[in-house]
Amino acid sequence: MPDSKTAPKSFSFRAAFAERAKKEIAKYPPKRKQSAVLALLDLAQRQNTETNCVTDAAMENIAKILDISRMRLEEIASFYTMIHRKPIGKYHVQCCTTTPCMLRGGDSLVALAEKKLGIRANETTSDGLFTLSRVECIGACANAPAMQINDDFYEDLSEKHVENILDNLAAGKPVTAGSQIKRRGAEPVQHSETSLNKRSGYKVS
Ligand code: FES
Repeated sequence: MPDSKTAPKSFSFRAAFAERAKKEIAKYPPKRKQSAVLALLDLAQRQNTETNCVTDAAMENIAKILDISRMRLEEIASFYTMIHRKPIGKYHVQCCTTTPCMLRGGDSLVALAEKKLGIRANETTSDGLFTLSRVECIGACANAPAMQINDDFYEDLSEKHVENILDNLAAGKPVTAGSQIKRRGAEPVQHSETSLNKRSGYKVS
């Protein structure tokens, strides 16, 4: 995986991304176009599929587009944890260990992921496939323990679920996001069990 030294030295938005950037900027009055800064940082990061981060070259480009100082842009990019300034893996596994998830086994899921991937939290596997992070509440407390991988949430996790999800991603197989015990939203497990049983004979273990 390229590091910040070997990352491409130039950046411009490709047509589809440029179109989306234009739409984001158009949401604000011309004098307030800097309000589109997070959207553009996110777009740059999504375009940079080799590094999954906002490279220095992308920062330069966005600073020019939005007429914003590099320092101000750096302050914004470094404040938000979903914006990466250093390369990360194809799959960013973010395990929540804030209180509700911690009480439901979040720490042991991190330990399991560390063992399975052969890395510690905040590290990336040597093949560039996974970056593991321990994160604060991701807003899925009612379905704890939860983790986020890229844009998807995985909830009501057991160690077995995490193992399966990581194995499938490593093998390029599809994974199903959402509640791993097939709860609808955050409805009570018992209610889920009853309604699911009625609907499909599914049994919550
Ligand atoms: S504490 Fe883990 S999602 Fe809120």
